[in-house]
Amino acid sequence: MTRGGSPAVRVGIVGLGYMGLATGLGFAAHGASVVGYDVKPEIRRSIELGRSPYRESGLGALLRAQRRSGRLRVVETPRDLVGAADGIFLCVPTPAGPTGRIDLRPLEGAVRDLGSALRDTRGYRIVVVKSTVVPGTTESLVAPELRRRSKRRPEGLGVASNPEFLAEGSMVHDAVSPERIVVGTRDARALAWLRRAYRPFGAPILALTPSGAELVKYSSNAFLALKVSFANEVARLADRLGSNVDEVLEAVGRDSRIGPRFLRAGPGFGGSCFEKDLRALAARSRELGVRLRSAEAALRINEEQLAYVLGLIRAAVGSLRGKRIALLGLAFKAGTDDVRETRALPIVQRLVAEGALVRGHDPGALDNFRRLWQREAGRGRGRLDLVSSVDEALEGADAAVLQADWPEYSRWSARWTRRMRHPVLLDLRRAVDRERVADSGLTVIGLGAGVFPRIRRHGGGGGR
Ligand code: UDX
Repeated sequence: MTRGGSPAVRVGIVGLGYMGLATGLGFAAHGASVVGYDVKPEIRRSIELGRSPYRESGLGALLRAQRRSGRLRVVETPRDLVGAADGIFLCVPTPAGPTGRIDLRPLEGAVRDLGSALRDTRGYRIVVVKSTVVPGTTESLVAPELRRRSKRRPEGLGVASNPEFLAEGSMVHDAVSPERIVVGTRDARALAWLRRAYRPFGAPILALTPSGAELVKYSSNAFLALKVSFANEVARLADRLGSNVDEVLEAVGRDSRIGPRFLRAGPGFGGSCFEKDLRALAARSRELGVRLRSAEAALRINEEQLAYVLGLIRAAVGSLRGKRIALLGLAFKAGTDDVRETRALPIVQRLVAEGALVRGHDPGALDNFRRLWQREAGRGRGRLDLVSSVDEALEGADAAVLQADWPEYSRWSARWTRRMRHPVLLDLRRAVDRERVADSGLTVIGLGAGVFPRIRRHGGGGGR
């Protein structure tokens, strides 16, 4: 029973990755009784012991609290899960496949296991697809396969889509206090259950069809990515005009129709979602005979941004052959150890391809980047050194490039400037205050800060 006296909703989570774990904890924090299952025994074990398998702000503390409260349990089989839950959320990964389409194998595997487990259980159940899937997948793939395997009729099995909008670094907050909840189902009983399960969250619940809900997820990511790409184009223009992109977009974002967030120019978007989702959306749209030019443009601008960054570096240091470059920040953004689709990788690849020697540093993502580099280095192996202090990274450097804006980089120390052979910082996030560090002799070239034309005029070599 919950505090209010009504029985706690029984939630099941299939797939205890970042997203599944945060989702389960969000429900537990609001009083639900949650059981989780993952195919990987080491993940089950770690969560059982109250240890978060992931480095994500607040996740470990909430996990310990909910293990103590007894509201989050781990089970050993899908059958145990189905026995202890009324609403089962599929939270398995949907990685990018070879042609831009998503790879549905993990989802298909989970659906098969769940369908078989449902066959041996009695009573109404709801299966909710939380994994990001292209519009249509819940109704054309998940629902029929579940019905076939479980031998259940629609009256005994509700199916719904319920996308998540969790961003790394703020996952716990986003899972516990979402801005909105989007559900897609044609089944009134499933909708009633979802409304009850989400009532304690206090967020508006928007009810759509399954494909409508799936499209909300892709459209949201496409729009956010478009905002970032737009900011990056304005940054290039600001550089030409000698204006500062942050000042410009701050003023633009004050228009409440536009909004100030996701307008920060930088090296381009990375992370596990934006590129994958935009490609999948563009591919699916083309199959349906619709060109989604805005999503395609966001991707193209993101690609071009890399060339722009390289142009900026070349303009500052001239030829890269034999030059020592320090790369600060290897994660796809600050505050995470995640290196998926990080812009640091193509930046290093291009720098070493042009003959530079790179030293990379990151306060949290060094180990993950090392593993990524071992897979992706190719002939560049040996031209990247990963070091555990900023001082080492900067020692004898001909230039430094700030890729992810970890707070420690913003507190730039004069000692760091002295380590460098040529004290020039290409600040791709405009994290370091130029005025403050000028005394140390450091020249800061912020991407979009409007100082690029000046260095070009002074003949820094190679353009874009
Ligand atoms: C994103 C979405 O925000 C989230 O809702 C969705 O569920 C998953 O994808 P995440 O990948 O964790 O979350 O990162 P996010 O903070 O959105 O940043 C994505 C990329 O865009 C990062 O590389 C970031 O550096 C970049 N970005 C973001 C900018 O360059 N400028 C901005 O203003 C915002």
